[in-house]
Amino acid sequence: MDKSVKFWDRFANRYSKQAIADPDTYQRKLELTWKYLTPESRVFEFGCGTGSTALLHAPKVKHIVATDYSHNMIEIANRKLADTDLNNVEFKCATLFDLPYGDESFDAVLGLNVLHLINDPARYIEKAYALLKPGGVLITSTACLTGKFRVLKLVLPLGAALGLIPEVKFMTLEELEGDMTSCGFTLIEKLLPPKPTGAVFLIAKK
Ligand SMILES: C[S@@+](CC[C@H](N)C(=O)[O-])C[C@H]1O[C@@H](n2cnc3c(N)ncnc32)[C@H](O)[C@@H]1O
Repeated sequence: MDKSVKFWDRFANRYSKQAIADPDTYQRKLELTWKYLTPESRVFEFGCGTGSTALLHAPKVKHIVATDYSHNMIEIANRKLADTDLNNVEFKCATLFDLPYGDESFDAVLGLNVLHLINDPARYIEKAYALLKPGGVLITSTACLTGKFRVLKLVLPLGAALGLIPEVKFMTLEELEGDMTSCGFTLIEKLLPPKPTGAVFLIAKK
């Protein structure tokens, strides 16, 4: 994990300046998310990066704790937060497992563009399930390589070994959905990416 944290720490500044690749799809994902958030919602985000999405959700909810294991990502997120009037957002340098929240603490858990970077996504999905109140939602956006893009499986580890890209865990959409349903989630929304290399957006209900 250390190597990956170092990668994201190094990349944080550049990441914060990157434009959103597909603004229309991003907007659709925000709107789908807002269907399941209310002014009473308590939200937890893991792998929040520089916090842009958490800051957009904040006005719709009661409270949001957004976390990332990269200290530099969280530093940038806190600088962005300081430029707002929001008082219901906490950015913390942590993983999903580091903070002392009890089971059934949250109405929504978000993991956006992160599960494919994690070696054991099933463990994260189970932890999200535990943190959610009954009826709460896990909202994820995950790269699932399919078809001819599976060939990337052969070259990406080389890029990761050279520190050029982060380590990527490859799973099919079926495996990802299976990890969710086998711990008790019901899948309620699915937005497939316009390009096969894009991320699949899933909302799963406890
Ligand atoms: C591709 S970025 C996505 C950031 C943000 N969610 C977004 O959609 O723009 C992945 C982020 O996940 C973080 N990350 C990766 N694995 C993590 C883990 N196990 N725990 C916490 N953060 C993690 C990285 O530091 C990085 O900021």
